[in-house]
Amino acid sequence: MAETHPDVNHVNGIDTDTTNDEVLLAATNHDLETLTRLLRSNPALAKVQDADTGFSPLHCAIASCEPDEDFDADAGAGDAVHSNALDEDSALATVKLLFENGAIWNELDNADETPGCLALRLGLRQVYDAIVEAGVRAELLFGRLDGYELLAGGDEDAEPEDEAIVGFEPSPVEVRRPELPLPVTDAQASTTTEPILANPNVNNEDYLKSELTYSGDRLLDSDKNAVMMDWETEIMKISADQLSPRQGLRTMNVGHGMGIVDSMFLQHEPAMHHIVEAHPAVLKRLRETGWYDKPNVTIHAGRWQDVLPKLVEQGVVLDGIYYDTYAEDYKDLKEFFTEYVIALLDKDGRFGFYNGLGADRQVCYDVYWKVVEMDLFDAGLDVEWTDIAVPDLKGRDEWNGVRYPYWGSIETYRLPTCKFVG
Ligand SMILES: C[S@@+](CC[C@H](N)C(=O)[O-])C[C@H]1O[C@@H](n2cnc3c(N)ncnc32)[C@H](O)[C@@H]1O
Repeated sequence: MAETHPDVNHVNGIDTDTTNDEVLLAATNHDLETLTRLLRSNPALAKVQDADTGFSPLHCAIASCEPDEDFDADAGAGDAVHSNALDEDSALATVKLLFENGAIWNELDNADETPGCLALRLGLRQVYDAIVEAGVRAELLFGRLDGYELLAGGDEDAEPEDEAIVGFEPSPVEVRRPELPLPVTDAQASTTTEPILANPNVNNEDYLKSELTYSGDRLLDSDKNAVMMDWETEIMKISADQLSPRQGLRTMNVGHGMGIVDSMFLQHEPAMHHIVEAHPAVLKRLRETGWYDKPNVTIHAGRWQDVLPKLVEQGVVLDGIYYDTYAEDYKDLKEFFTEYVIALLDKDGRFGFYNGLGADRQVCYDVYWKVVEMDLFDAGLDVEWTDIAVPDLKGRDEWNGVRYPYWGSIETYRLPTCKFVG
């Protein structure tokens, strides 16, 4: 018979285990000695969250750098937790220690802030950079693991073998139109090894069956999610200019949407221009608006996943390729450039894509442009970034009538132009 122990952590129904509070307090006070001792006994403590605020130890370490407006330095306040702001150096050391023990870079608190959002708001640049670095490491590792598991046959119940890989949460980052929230819960993470789409209602398969509405300056799906908006015209123009810098080139755009980027490509008078489009309503519109009759334009109806293998087989070679789809995630974009861009692009050609990765908050955007840069490099592509100021979308009332604003408070769009390394 199993030995029974009295529940030492519960007295009269009250939880008496204070370890979580101790960790949060040690993180708040940047008390490395206590933190090291606690984490050594149980590294999972790096992931606890305060019940009232949702603060993780990372949030605590950062929040205690915020100057306390009520603090009177001359009055000789007591504990560090009540004293004036702690310094960034000790916050940085605390944050690094927490990451070494598996802290989650993109955990949300109850105010919908990740530790990175908090660090950015408080102007803690070094701490912010350390969080971005940890985010990049975690997301790259997740991407590799994901591929490894697929190759290995995808046993979804298998535990990762390497202990060092525990302690990060995969982000369900959509390439375009990401919806909140980015981080996933432990419950989700433990039931799947795939990145979870931020909005399970918008996956590519469902989207392609949904009804679309063209209304003036936007294209909406049946849930009033914006597929494409007119404010992105400048982004489309610069993308087409970069990918088709002179007349007579061979170009391709994947995802017609409102046809903005395709019109820009045609202004450069390409020798041939391919359009790949999968949605029946968009294809109908292409027909109605005369795109099928335009000289040098070939329209391929279908998902790029089905169309591009045929083009590769036919030996098509292109000078410029643009990718801007909808309701696909980072894995799709990665497959696109690792499988097809390298097969279709001429050695001096250029590849670009709509960079909406993690665009609902700055820290995710900063993590993802670095992740994609590294993955592009692995695929043999160098990327050059062109920074474009994003208009004041809230001020211009752009989100009126749109279900979710897919672009957060990020002020700078990073436009990628990729060429083969060397
Ligand atoms: C954001 S819009 C493109 C907007 C376009 N860049 C413009 O300038 O108007 C995305 C387009 O990709 C199409 N799309 C989504 N998934 C696709 C897939 N797997 N293959 C081909 N097209 C797809 C959508 O139907 C939609 O027309």
